[in-house]
Amino acid sequence: MRIGVLGTGTVGITLATKLAQLGNEVKMGSRSADNKTAGDWAKANMGHKASHCTFEEAAKFGEMLVLSVHGNAALEVVGAAKPENFKGKVVIDTCNPLEFGPGGVKLFVSNTESLSERIQASVPDAKVVKTLNTVNALLMTDPKRLGEELTVFMAGNDENAKKHVAEFLKKFGWNDIIDLGGLEASRYMEMLLPMLMQLGSMWQHPNFGFRIVRKG
Ligand SMILES: NC(=O)c1ccc[n+]([C@@H]2O[C@H](COP(=O)([O-])OP(=O)(O)OC[C@H]3O[C@@H](n4cnc5c(N)ncnc54)[C@H](OP(=O)(O)O)[C@@H]3O)[C@@H](O)[C@H]2O)c1
Repeated sequence: MRIGVLGTGTVGITLATKLAQLGNEVKMGSRSADNKTAGDWAKANMGHKASHCTFEEAAKFGEMLVLSVHGNAALEVVGAAKPENFKGKVVIDTCNPLEFGPGGVKLFVSNTESLSERIQASVPDAKVVKTLNTVNALLMTDPKRLGEELTVFMAGNDENAKKHVAEFLKKFGWNDIIDLGGLEASRYMEMLLPMLMQLGSMWQHPNFGFRIVRKG
């Protein structure tokens, strides 16, 4: 499958690498066609049909898209990538609406709306599925890294798109995938972030994750 990964951060690199290793043709997009991180990634993954380009070219190229950019920049990136290039496509959204200030970490949108819903509104013909935003990048494609089963959540308005994304999550090694329902539920996924940031800042390492224990 042709996949456009919009984002050159740790998440973009992690997901693009795994998707390429799984046999997909992956283009990594960035603000500039000569982004060094993306270029180095493409070189290192040449054996896997990997290449790099602008956000717009990656969005145009992908049959499925991954949006993994700084939360503050997500809508700008979608604009640069051109909304028409998202039409009909499944979009995996890992972005978090984080805002860092003197009072600690805050969400710039919450309670009544989520960043994912804003992204969906900016590309109404796409099928946005929020997932992996509550998982550290190190665990995203290696969920058993801590030696225990962890939980990943997802939310989205299109049932087939969620099934499609769940297949990818299974290929990444996830067994406990909780579908929280429509994209409105992405609000709750994003609202988990301040807790994760607090734990990370207390422990100063990324080796932890959510596991939901339930009976029935
Ligand atoms: N890191 C994690 O462990 C983790 C875990 C779960 C979820 N997330 C979420 O996933 C998303 C990606 O995280 P990340 O850590 O991989 O990377 P990041 O540093 O949050 O984002 C890097 C990407 O954002 C783009 N970007 C930054 N500022 C921009 C601006 N002003 N205008 C346009 N584009 C801009 C960069 O573009 P260029 O390529 O042009 O530089 C780059 O592609 C974030 O929303 C984050 O909250 C991260």
